[in-house]
Amino acid sequence: MKKVFVKTKHHTYTVYIQHQLIDNIVPYLPKEDNYVLISDDNIPKQYYDSISDQVTIRHSYFIKAGEQSKTIHVANDIIEKMIEDGVTKDYVLIALGGGVVGDLAGFIASVYMRGIDYIQIPTTLLAQVDSSVGGKTAVNTPKMKNAIGAFKHPTKVLIDPETLNTLETRHFNNGMAEVIKYGLIADKELYNRLNTPNILKIIDDIIATCIAIKARIVYLDEKDQGVRQLLNYGHTIGHALEQFSEYKLLHGEAVAVGMAMAAKKQKFKDSLYKLLENYNLPTTYDYDKEALLKIINTDKKAYKDNLNFIMVEEVGNGFIKTINKKDITHYLR
Ligand code: GLY
Repeated sequence: MKKVFVKTKHHTYTVYIQHQLIDNIVPYLPKEDNYVLISDDNIPKQYYDSISDQVTIRHSYFIKAGEQSKTIHVANDIIEKMIEDGVTKDYVLIALGGGVVGDLAGFIASVYMRGIDYIQIPTTLLAQVDSSVGGKTAVNTPKMKNAIGAFKHPTKVLIDPETLNTLETRHFNNGMAEVIKYGLIADKELYNRLNTPNILKIIDDIIATCIAIKARIVYLDEKDQGVRQLLNYGHTIGHALEQFSEYKLLHGEAVAVGMAMAAKKQKFKDSLYKLLENYNLPTTYDYDKEALLKIINTDKKAYKDNLNFIMVEEVGNGFIKTINKKDITHYLR
């Protein structure tokens, strides 16, 4: 078992990484029987069955898998059902699934009756190494990804790496993009370890390393006003591409292209492109420059004239560079 502690000004919680955790969940979940659960229609049935055999889940809400479900309308539908089902403030919401489920459930937990507790059980690599930790929750609007959201930390994060055995390769690689990002911005040794032919053999360690990096950053800057923005390496262009592709590109795939573009003048470019290709991640995407610029201009990471662009010149050392919005074109082709 590995444990990582996440500490912020008002919250401390533990991320547990343990094989077979889902099948032995009772020690991790408080004994109350007031759980409700949000998941999606893609979740392997055995995870849901196993959890609901061990603890009493009063009500479950399943969304259609995919980024298209991360909307205020879907959140509202679930909230209406929770009201109908008599879910009160002392219920605990369990988010079982990937980043979409986690972000949506976290958002609902942040606003339902002005806030209820929630627990993350991330089942994709992307959610395990990134989105389940750090308290960012949100839903998208047609014009902006994560446009409506709140900071709301889970009370704990339960990671069972066995879930990666049932994850489609494309989705595993999607998470690897975020893992590569952590190496680039903060940990050269991690970056070098990713060249291994069998990453699954060391995946527990990789997950714990990524979360420890994120925990360190979130401790310093919970609300994304400074150093936390390093976690956005590849994301300014990546988020725009994700939206431009109408979410045909998965988040990690779009971030992979964003990182490739951000790194195109750097010495480590060839090693990055090779690493991305090893994990079948794209390094280019066919986009319309004007349309992309328009999306970038309205990105919530941008200010009136400037945006904080995350740069890496040496692997393991990300930094923030404030650039004029217009200068982003240097990174586009
Ligand atoms: N995924 C970036 C962050 O949590 O800040």
